[in-house]
Amino acid sequence: MTKENILVIDDELAPRESIRMVLKDKYTVSTATGAHEGLDMMSEKSVDLVVMDIKMPVMDGITALQQIKKKHPDTEVVLLTAYASLDTARDAIRFGAFDYLLKPFDKDNVLLVVEKGLKKRRANKGLQMERDILLDRATYLEEQVDSARSNIMKYYEGTVEALNSTIDAKDHYTFNHSSRVAQLSSQLAAAFGVDEKTTKEIKHAASIHDIGKVGIEENILNKNGKLTDDEYELIKKHPVIGARIIQSIPFLEEAIPVVLYHHERYDGKGYPEGIEGENIPLVARIVGVADAVDAMMSDRPYRDALSIDKVSNELKRCSGIQFDSKMVDLILSGKVSLDWLTKKSD
Ligand SMILES: [Fe+2]
Ligand SMILES: [Fe+2]
Repeated sequence: MTKENILVIDDELAPRESIRMVLKDKYTVSTATGAHEGLDMMSEKSVDLVVMDIKMPVMDGITALQQIKKKHPDTEVVLLTAYASLDTARDAIRFGAFDYLLKPFDKDNVLLVVEKGLKKRRANKGLQMERDILLDRATYLEEQVDSARSNIMKYYEGTVEALNSTIDAKDHYTFNHSSRVAQLSSQLAAAFGVDEKTTKEIKHAASIHDIGKVGIEENILNKNGKLTDDEYELIKKHPVIGARIIQSIPFLEEAIPVVLYHHERYDGKGYPEGIEGENIPLVARIVGVADAVDAMMSDRPYRDALSIDKVSNELKRCSGIQFDSKMVDLILSGKVSLDWLTKKSD
């Protein structure tokens, strides 16, 4: 076992040397002639215990004690004192001194006090090590949780992607509609000041908002002409069908409000439930606007895509009626741009 390091600080040669002589066989002893020199030495190499005179020029032992405890809280300090400053030495205990030795000192007593101080230091070191081990373990567990979480995210994203392609494969007219709505929804959410995590959730939810269309007949979805009332009623079922599909997938739960309510209208005249205003979940109000905007900006069998100007006019006309005016304002004010939607490649 390596010997423990002891530093003796005293401006007078005689006591400094005699303490060194007493301790040198059992410990590695260094000496300093003043507090500054001692502190410098301590910043170079670690010291387990300091034996230091109280009365020293330039910096006295009590001031030095406080500095040592501040910079090296684990180092124990034993003070040397003449009978005249005994009260000061006793007071020094509250500044963190371990004990004091009264001059002239007795050799056995020096060894005893120093050994006791080191014992305390060893116990503290042991505690410190245990604390470090626990901290290491906690960090390890945190990493495990993080990696599990990112695995779940990967599954989530994979599942969303697969569902997304399922809708696109079925509904030919709206190829890539889901991912554009996801993009625009997350832009609206971010511009509205929604936090990053929720914005990401909205993006995922938006990309499967029409998942219920997998339950609608393809010839209705892809009909080359106006829908009959009955056909339209069938199409209107896709939010409820979609919510039913994803409710059995635990990590898609957050997408339910979007899937179920993206066709609700601010004036309460939407479907499936006809809820109105702020009763419609924010996420669904956001996706609702994005969905309508992308629909207007896409070619349909019965009409060409609308220009940005026409879309803006339509948004203005329906603001607060069909759409949440707060979302409409984000677009009309230019905070969220629609330019990229005109350059889509479908
Ligand atoms: Fe829809
Ligand atoms: Fe849609």
